[in-house]
Amino acid sequence: MNSGKFLTLEGTEGVGKSTNLAFVRDWLEARNIEVIVTREPGGTPLAEEVRGLLLAKREEPVNQTAELLLVFAARAQHIAQVIKPALARGAWVLSDRFTDATFAYQGGGRGLDKNVIQQLERMVQGDLRPDLTLILDIDVKLGLTRASQRGELDRFESEALDFFERVRAAYRERAVANPKQYAMVDAGQSLEKVQQDIDQVLQKLI
Ligand code: TMP
Repeated sequence: MNSGKFLTLEGTEGVGKSTNLAFVRDWLEARNIEVIVTREPGGTPLAEEVRGLLLAKREEPVNQTAELLLVFAARAQHIAQVIKPALARGAWVLSDRFTDATFAYQGGGRGLDKNVIQQLERMVQGDLRPDLTLILDIDVKLGLTRASQRGELDRFESEALDFFERVRAAYRERAVANPKQYAMVDAGQSLEKVQQDIDQVLQKLI
């Protein structure tokens, strides 16, 4: 049985993911839906260790294929330990990022071959895909200014502006290509308006 729904939240840096993740969680819980909130990379002790490896700034250059495989290694563990069991017992899963981030960051940002990412997606996920992916979209400069106010930057946050322009473009491309799975929300609006838009998307889902 797989009656739970799988929701993911995506966006570039400083887009307001944490605030809106809490909004979606509260929205679902207010409707008596059991929801497991999790994140990628991470979501299990092992996958959180891999997250630490991925985000740490280091002198050694990180090979892009190594980065890609670490992301999917963490994901395999997360799916097996958290996502599939929760969905199987009928709970909903809300993940702060999932494979769209790989298409956006490793595919768009780093320029890795999309077909390779798709192959890994099939290998690691089988036919598991989110029922809904909310993409919070914002002007990259505005987002980075917000993110920089949070303190020290991690390895991804330290990338240059054009990296994030490519990440944003990849997210937008995926949203446009598959409007059934994706909803793009303008995160440059007031928080109230952003959450009204999210509310409308969620109303359609249940
Ligand atoms: P965040 O959860 O604080 O946004 O940090 C996670 C970082 O990891 C973020 O910069 C995006 C990056 N990331 C990837 O590069 N590829 C992925 O597949 C995922 C899930 C995250």
